Amino acid sequence: MHLDFAQTEPKDRYKVLTALVVPRPIAWVSSISPEGITNLAPFSFFSVMGSRPPIVAFAPGNKSPNIPKDTARNILETREYVINLVDETTASHMVESAKPHDADISEIDLTHLTAIPSLAVCAPRIAEAPVSMECKHLQEIKIGENRMVIGEILHLHIKDGILDPETLHLNPEANYAPLGRMASPDNYCRTIDQFRL
Ligand SMILES: Cc1cc2nc3c(=O)[nH]c(=O)nc-3n(C[C@H](O)[C@H](O)[C@H](O)COP(=O)(O)O)c2cc1C
Repeated sequence: MHLDFAQTEPKDRYKVLTALVVPRPIAWVSSISPEGITNLAPFSFFSVMGSRPPIVAFAPGNKSPNIPKDTARNILETREYVINLVDETTASHMVESAKPHDADISEIDLTHLTAIPSLAVCAPRIAEAPVSMECKHLQEIKIGENRMVIGEILHLHIKDGILDPETLHLNPEANYAPLGRMASPDNYCRTIDQFRL
C-alpha cells in the first residue's frame, strides 16, 4: 500500500499519521490566561527536543480558522506554562480535560485536580502528575495550519521514588509508566512492559 500525501485529504493524513506514529508521549499542559483563569489540556504532538538547553516542543492547533486553542493563546500572552506528564492514575482526568470548554472555565477545577504554585512560572503544576516541567516560551513556528510551540524547561518536579536521588537513574521499583497515545481518538498504551536490548 502507498499513499501520495499530495492526493490525500488532510483528515485522512491525520488519521493515518496518528495511527502509525505511535506511541506518542502526552504533554498535559497547564497555563493561565492574563485574566488569571487556569487551563489544562493534553497534546500528543509532543516531545523533548534536546538538553543543551533543555527544550520541548508541542503542537496546539486552532479551535477554528485563525483562533488558537486556549493553551496556545495563554502561552503566547504569558510566555510561561507547565508540561505535566500523564500516567494511568491520571489518565481519565487527562481525557476529561481535553473536552472543549469556554476559556472562562478552568479544567483544573472541573477535574478536581490539585494545582500547586510553580517556582518560576505563573502557571500552576498538577500535584497528581508524576512529573511536571516548568517552561518558558521560546518560539512559535507556524507552518500552514500547524503551530509548533517550543519552550525551555526551567524546573523539573518528579514524584519522590521515581529517580534515585544519587545517580538520577530511574528506580525500577517505582514502576514509572507514563501513558502512550495510540490511534486517535481513544487508544492508549501502557509502558510498563519494557525489555532491554
Ligand atoms: C491524548 C490527547 C492528545 C491530544 N493531542 C493534541 C495535539 O497534539 N494537538 C492539538 O491541537 N490537540 C490535541 N488534543 C485535543 C486537545 O486536547 C483539545 O482540543 C483541548 O480542548 C484543547 O484545549 P484548550 O483549548 O484549553 O487548549 C489531544 C487530545 C487528547 C485526548
